[in-house]
Amino acid sequence: MGEGIKLPVLNGLGRTNRIDNWWSKPMAMGIGLTAALIYTVWRLFLYGTETANGGSLISYELHGSTVMSPIFSPNVLEWNLFGLNEWNHPEWVNAAILVLWIPFGFRGTCYYMRRVYYRTFFASPTACWVDEPDINKAIGYKGEKRLFIFNNLHRYFLYAAMIILVIKWWDVTHTIHFTEDGINGYGASIGTFVMGLEAFLLTMYVTSCHALRHLAGGMLDRWTTGISRARGVLFGKISVLNRSHGFWFWTSLIFVFLGDLWVLAVAEGHLSDMVLFHV
Ligand code: FES
Repeated sequence: MGEGIKLPVLNGLGRTNRIDNWWSKPMAMGIGLTAALIYTVWRLFLYGTETANGGSLISYELHGSTVMSPIFSPNVLEWNLFGLNEWNHPEWVNAAILVLWIPFGFRGTCYYMRRVYYRTFFASPTACWVDEPDINKAIGYKGEKRLFIFNNLHRYFLYAAMIILVIKWWDVTHTIHFTEDGINGYGASIGTFVMGLEAFLLTMYVTSCHALRHLAGGMLDRWTTGISRARGVLFGKISVLNRSHGFWFWTSLIFVFLGDLWVLAVAEGHLSDMVLFHV
């Protein structure tokens, strides 16, 4: 076998012959992820979940329907299950604190997300044809070991995320039934579209998941007859969605925060929701 060809990459962090703005994408992604983290901490621990007079800041009511912030959905503290609704919890505990480990774990171990944070935060690799920090060369990529071994839990986070997804759609149904103030029946408000769009984007993100594709049919040696053929078809369909997995990652993430801002603005009285139609 011949020796590998040594590519003429310039040595030194960030040095390259590339003339395009190779740094702009990782930088934008790094800013986006950092902003998401800061917003989440601010919302969960600093801003609070109630107004001064005890009103909710995680959801609002509109003619008997309920619109819930995506960050605080599912609102497990209202569930009968395990007596959570009667739990005399500390003031700082809220529904998001109890549940967010699932979306965090799911997104944090996502194959696409790994690519993003390896490049953005570890500069490993910095970019195609761009030199990486000396420390990376010294340590080298050792695969999914040590702390990164938890990335292998992605499949299990997928199962949990699927349950969350079903509850998200369940929450959407709570926005379409109006029972008060002379408006009775089923319809939609702006909140319905906000929650519906959030649930839709999350559905696309989950159904384009690499691990789901593997489960659907990728784990089989061949797709020949019966169930295996059907699984092969499913594999093909998920593969099509999978091509845009990065797009669904970002749009679903951004909409969690836009949805929360919408609910917060209405709950605080800065904006108001309205019934768009009902029957
Ligand atoms: Fe991204 Fe599964 S690979 S969510």
